[in-house]
Amino acid sequence: MRTKTLTLLAVAASASMILAGCGANSTPSGGTGDSASAPAPSGANGTVGVILPETATSARWEGFDKPMLQTALTAEGFSVDIQNAQGDVQKFSTLADGMIAKGVKVLIIAAINGEVGGAVAAKAKAAGIPTIDYDRLNLGGSSDYYVSFDNEKVGALQGQGLATALKDKPGATVIEIEGAPTDNNATLFYNGQQTVLKPLYAAGTLKLIRSQPIDDWDNQTGGQAFEQILTGAGGTVGGVVAANDGLAGAVITVLKKNGLNGKVPVTGQDATADGLAAILSGDQYMTVFKPIKQEAEGAAKLASALAKGDKAAADALATAVSKDPKGNRDVKSILLQPQLITKDNVKTVVTEGYVKATEFCTGAVAAVCTSLGIS
Ligand code: BGC
Repeated sequence: MRTKTLTLLAVAASASMILAGCGANSTPSGGTGDSASAPAPSGANGTVGVILPETATSARWEGFDKPMLQTALTAEGFSVDIQNAQGDVQKFSTLADGMIAKGVKVLIIAAINGEVGGAVAAKAKAAGIPTIDYDRLNLGGSSDYYVSFDNEKVGALQGQGLATALKDKPGATVIEIEGAPTDNNATLFYNGQQTVLKPLYAAGTLKLIRSQPIDDWDNQTGGQAFEQILTGAGGTVGGVVAANDGLAGAVITVLKKNGLNGKVPVTGQDATADGLAAILSGDQYMTVFKPIKQEAEGAAKLASALAKGDKAAADALATAVSKDPKGNRDVKSILLQPQLITKDNVKTVVTEGYVKATEFCTGAVAAVCTSLGIS
């Protein structure tokens, strides 16, 4: 009842704003896009277009980002058009062309690679549509705002996780299976990992066998690359950096074939149901939990400010800065905090409502869930 009344009031308020022609530059009464203010009416603020990169590299895009962006943008009074390019750059461009042609208010871009992301942002800009780089910064691009996590910190957590897991194994060998070289995040994850691992390699505490970037984050390619490197190393390895849970899963499949799973710590990222199950079964040592709801809400609030042409409100939200070395520019950013997850705190991901216990507490893992009070 209360919600309905507020909604009707908001419809009336925004209709009168449109009539008065003062929507574009007005400052939201709640200050800097505060979501605690009265909910905007559904769809009254126009449509926001969102293009997600793919489904195969991580369960996050369809499982977390899509529904969370839908909810967050709807709460800001937008209609939402969310599409997934399924790893096809041509499709990514075509989807963007369609959204630009239909006059979306803001375009949120989670690009397959920096090149297509930058090209789409340039087209949108030419059409007067503001863009937000979402999760992945398009190097050399033109989006004025970026919403993501502290991605070097993500990598540092992976490095710390592996170092902790191998602390009683001096001289242990390490294979690194990294993300796509065309994804700036993969570079940041790598840089973050090296802040921890490089000194350990230099001191001989750990020994790097090889670091291998994986094109397009392709999980199958990652598994094959890992298998080859493992074979080349005589079939033994002390620990594995896998840049996300998808690649970790591919690595674990190979370790299983060789009877090494559970003996070799493997890192991950995204706190997916499969990743959490592998942690509880002992096959994966850690993952990184990135509360994507915060990322979606940050993007939605920014979109709301940009749709109103309220640069001051957008700037007040984007308090961090990201370096774009290719474009030689600083991009105003919202950068959120990632969290290290091991067996001890898998429960956090469930209690915060990201993954349901029923999605991973199955088979042999069910008993582990029970013993850890995860339900
Ligand atoms: C994202 C990760 C994701 C990876 C593969 C990165 O840009 O930050 O969360 O696992 O892409 O999709």
